[in-house]
Amino acid sequence: MPILEKETVRDQNSQVLPKVPVPPLKQTLDTYLRCVQQLVKEEQFKKTKAIVEKFGAPGGVGEVLQKKLLERRDKTNNWVYDYWLEDMYLNNRLALPVNSSPVMVFPKQTFRDHKDALRFAARLIRGVLDYKALIDARALPVEFARGQLAGTPLCMEQYYRLFTSYRYPGPKTDMLKVQMNTASSAPEHIIVACKNQFFVLDVVANSKQLNEAELFSQLEKIMKMSENAEERLPPLGILTSDGRTEWAQARDTLIKDQTNRDSLALIESCVCVVCLDEHSGLEPSDTTRALLMLHGGGREKNGANRWYDKSMQFVVGMDGICGVVCEHSPFEGIVLVQCSEYVMKYITGSPSKMAMASSIRELRPPRRLLWKCNSHIQGHLKASGDRLQKLVNNLDMDAFKFKVYGKEFIKKQKMSPDAFIQVALQLAFYKCSGRLVSTYESASIRRFQEGRVDNIRSATPEALAFVKSMTDERATFTDSEKIKHLMDAINAQTNYTIAAITGMAIDNHLLGLMKIAKELNMEKPEIFCDETYLTSNQFILSTSQVPTTVEMFCCYGPVVSNGYGACYNPQSDHIFFCVSSFWENTETSSVVFIKALNEGLLEIRDLFNRNSAAATKLADSRQGAGQPHKSGK
Ligand code: COA
Repeated sequence: MPILEKETVRDQNSQVLPKVPVPPLKQTLDTYLRCVQQLVKEEQFKKTKAIVEKFGAPGGVGEVLQKKLLERRDKTNNWVYDYWLEDMYLNNRLALPVNSSPVMVFPKQTFRDHKDALRFAARLIRGVLDYKALIDARALPVEFARGQLAGTPLCMEQYYRLFTSYRYPGPKTDMLKVQMNTASSAPEHIIVACKNQFFVLDVVANSKQLNEAELFSQLEKIMKMSENAEERLPPLGILTSDGRTEWAQARDTLIKDQTNRDSLALIESCVCVVCLDEHSGLEPSDTTRALLMLHGGGREKNGANRWYDKSMQFVVGMDGICGVVCEHSPFEGIVLVQCSEYVMKYITGSPSKMAMASSIRELRPPRRLLWKCNSHIQGHLKASGDRLQKLVNNLDMDAFKFKVYGKEFIKKQKMSPDAFIQVALQLAFYKCSGRLVSTYESASIRRFQEGRVDNIRSATPEALAFVKSMTDERATFTDSEKIKHLMDAINAQTNYTIAAITGMAIDNHLLGLMKIAKELNMEKPEIFCDETYLTSNQFILSTSQVPTTVEMFCCYGPVVSNGYGACYNPQSDHIFFCVSSFWENTETSSVVFIKALNEGLLEIRDLFNRNSAAATKLADSRQGAGQPHKSGK
């Protein structure tokens, strides 16, 4: 089954970028052992070491697979892309909301009435169409790397998938369809969800795009149509919130009917979905807004007012709770941020063009999508709604703004802010659990053709030594020893980051070796059946830096049932964290994690302060000692 169907027009930029490298085998295996040693018991590690050594021995299986991978690298633009996409997203059977789709949460808006909300939605749609026009014209400026190894151009391919992708559910694996349209075949409609009904809103009439006032008028018609209770159809969107296999089964039933096929085809080919949400009735704190964006509040609230397969869903709540939900397989959070910021700047940055629109054309009203539902579908709707409700009740989320310091303070210590935050997250986890666990930090590999991400494994041996020194109850470590451990941990983290962004991390490589063995119909190599490999791929701590320049934040759910999702947004004078976990798991608690994180960040600040006070004192005393003593004689 094809996993990625592309009618690709190659990005001019990516052609000049280098291909993702295949790291040397020995380097990856050595790093793997270094990464897992502190995560498994000693006995298990000994076993793993022997397995890894056998795999990497001259003439061993590893060498055969490595050779094949190098051949694959020569033959493809990006040897890991399809393997990674399948493994990371398409084979994952979990429901998209919470488990996979990240969201951007906009600042709370103040709408006096529904007209205000629709005006906001109309401007938002104009902003989206403006941004899409830039993408279609290939006029987005090429981005360049910032931070570590700044200055290299980045692959822009992910942007071209923003409005052209659709993730089809499948029984075993999903399919991501990307249509690289020519301008003439570009979709010209968006889907508007309102009261769990779906409407087709054509954004072009007589070859001219709708202006803001026209969009507003069409949205008003949609709202009116959705209020007619007699015409209301079942809440089909809830099916897309289900596990992928369950949704695939329901879809198989749906598509037996031509009406349903027509409606699905319109959703699958739209530019994006705009969800006009009803009042949630909840206090709009950061945490609540994050929760509502992640799952819509379940079927009793706006949980069915979504279509999760579509890459970009813009949410406009009548109560001012707004944001974007993104299907993750076509692109990364950084691209989502760029688009969200553009749209938000468009909305807030210039005066409304509504009044300036000289005329509103007489437009055909938007069409409601029709569905034919038999008892079978009704059964699916009930089951999907129940499962979504379970997910809603299970998500434990805490959004936290750490205000004491931000990036600038960390830079003043001559440390990488990202590495510093990662080490602080390790400290928080250790404070909560007394151990370190397999950790994922996404590292962009957009310096390479079609580059997506690899993993920075932040639970380094140096991080373990540091967190032990900070939490040692016998107070055996002096401040300067703790500082030394901190510096070591940050250096190790920074070095791993540099390796990852230059294509030298281990996760993609190991995945590639495993997948190529399967393609060669070889027996699964022992290294990949080993308990350590399985443990090391259970990312109990799943972290990601998603910085913004406009007031908004990103968040996502944990990737394993006993884990945390920790998304952070470092700003010059504060750091915004969004931590998620599942209530069902008794070992995790987002509020406890945040408390430990806050405590750790303050302890590190105090450590710096004590250290610099001690250094000043020492310098003063040295200076004092160097001065000639005044003698009374
Ligand atoms: N002393 C002083 N300043 C330092 C420093 C040091 N030792 N090390 C770094 N800095 C500065 C950098 O120059 C940079 O400055 P800038 O803000 O002026 O650009 C800043 O600190 C930030 O650098 P750093 O904290 O090291 O991180 P980074 O920006 O290089 O980011 C990653 C690291 C891994 C997050 C980044 O490479 C990446 O991959 N980002 C994408 C993540 C992603 O895909 N997220 C979404 C997933 S869905």
